Amino acid sequence: MNSHTHPSRVPMAAELIERRQESSDVFTLQLRLVDSQQREQYRFQPGQFNMVYLHGVGEVAISIVSDREDPTLLNHTIRAVGRVTRGLEQLQTGQQIGLRGPYGRGWPMEQAKSKDLVVVTGGLGCAPVVAAIHEVEQQRAAYGRLAIIEGVRHHQDLIYPDRFHHWEQMERTDVVLCCSHDKAAPWPWHTGRVTAHLDQLGFDLPDAVAMLCGPEGMMAAAAETLIQQGMSGDSIWLSLERNMQCGDGFCGHCQLGSHFVCRDGPVFNWSEIGGALKVKGL
Ligand SMILES: Cc1cc2nc3c(=O)[nH]c(=O)nc-3n(C[C@H](O)[C@H](O)[C@H](O)COP(=O)(O)OP(=O)(O)OC[C@H]3O[C@@H](n4cnc5c(N)ncnc54)[C@H](O)[C@@H]3O)c2cc1C
Ligand code: FES
Repeated sequence: MNSHTHPSRVPMAAELIERRQESSDVFTLQLRLVDSQQREQYRFQPGQFNMVYLHGVGEVAISIVSDREDPTLLNHTIRAVGRVTRGLEQLQTGQQIGLRGPYGRGWPMEQAKSKDLVVVTGGLGCAPVVAAIHEVEQQRAAYGRLAIIEGVRHHQDLIYPDRFHHWEQMERTDVVLCCSHDKAAPWPWHTGRVTAHLDQLGFDLPDAVAMLCGPEGMMAAAAETLIQQGMSGDSIWLSLERNMQCGDGFCGHCQLGSHFVCRDGPVFNWSEIGGALKVKGL
């Protein structure tokens, strides 16, 4: 556990302040904890997640997108895929849900200090890195150059276009948007896969830190490309998703080899987890 405070194991009541549609099946809920003391005490690290509880339906693990400097408002960006997430999609302003957390080990913000940082994401994988990029922005002088590479299948799948535009304006920052399936995507898009851009960064990769989030095949391909270019597995970090029930190291549902993804992750480095990811069915 990487947070300054102990996470709440009892769901805390949270009220929906605003709901924003990001794409056809992705939406963001902006929530506020109802209890003022819980609101004051709640702190999270970039890359951690909450267990989000829709009353009478169930609970799901969702990454925390919010700006760490304003923890009174908690944002969760969610793809509607099943029972709970489709129910959350129907939530109306003012309605309440439950939140437990924050849980898990987040991104290595300390290790990344003074180094160049490569952030490679796919689809909704850009959500769990938002808080890390906010932290770099707030302490810009503490970090080296920043490259943000986001890949989607079609350019209409991109969420957070305003955020990407804003990050592009940050000093010593490059943003590359790629789509793999549109052959003639409009400017400023690149076509092809995110890995095609990793040898064009002009970074001293052996001394950089990478943060990867997205489909596991994409993260494995990116990690292997970075390793071929001299980066160590200890400097490549990836955020994993597994079926979670307790979120807190008790039930074993999220086990991956000898690791519990909820407690030991969801952020792991490639040296720890790359081997397990290659074992089919693990
Ligand atoms: C640490 C962690 C962080 C996560 N962060 C986010 C986040 O920020 N935003 C978000 O939307 N999701 C996130 N997820 C995934 C999210 O927890 C699942 O999508 C959710 O549990 C689905 O629950 P459900 O009841 O709606 O669907 P279920 O009824 O459990 O599943 C319905 C169908 O959807 C499929 N499915 C389940 N999960 C996914 C998925 N992730 N993508 C595609 N298909 C899926 C299932 O195989 C099943 O066929 C995270 C998961 C973990 C472990
Ligand atoms: S979700 Fe229960 S141990 Fe990880």
